[in-house]
Amino acid sequence: GSVNNDDLKARIRTIPDFPKPGIMFRDITTLLLDAHGLKTTIDRMVAAVDGPVDLVAGIEARGFLFAAALAVPLNAGVLLIRKDGKLPGATIAEEYALEYGHDRIAMHADACAPGARVLLIDDLIATGGTARAAVRLLRKAGAVVTQAHFVVDLPDLGGADALRADGVEVRSLVA
Ligand code: PRP
Ligand code: HPA
Repeated sequence: GSVNNDDLKARIRTIPDFPKPGIMFRDITTLLLDAHGLKTTIDRMVAAVDGPVDLVAGIEARGFLFAAALAVPLNAGVLLIRKDGKLPGATIAEEYALEYGHDRIAMHADACAPGARVLLIDDLIATGGTARAAVRLLRKAGAVVTQAHFVVDLPDLGGADALRADGVEVRSLVA
């Protein structure tokens, strides 16, 4: 049944020991390959959106797929949040911690008007480091970010709770 999105969960594959020994990698490529699964995923994410949004922000790379697919039915534009160094215009950036070291994500400094209602989208939230940096970045640009939606949440890693503590409503289809 679809009550817990078990139909979608069944289309997500787990690859052990990727990218490192001991990691159980949740692989959404099998969900993407399934026409009905993909459409159902997008329809359910759209249905969970709370109120009008001006822009859907997607996080590179897998987040882009879902951000664009949601933006069309929501009548919103797409704002790209990319790994630093990829965007051609003037950017603002935010750093976030990885298991070893750190990374930086960036957006075009003029991508959104102050007060724009931005829905944050990614395929998956784990530690929340990426999504929380994205929220800091968008808020620095003047966006109003009240909701972040994901296909998959890995709740044991605490990212969704940390993002909620930042004042964001967090929703995911599958845990
Ligand atoms: C993955 C995933 C999220 C992030 C989640 O992206 O798509 O963006 O990690 O992890 P976190 O909650 O611990 O920050 P990845 O960096 O693998 O990029 P990709 O989509 O380009 O493969
Ligand atoms: N799958 C995909 N992306 C990820 C994962 C995972 O299990 N963990 C952190 N990023």
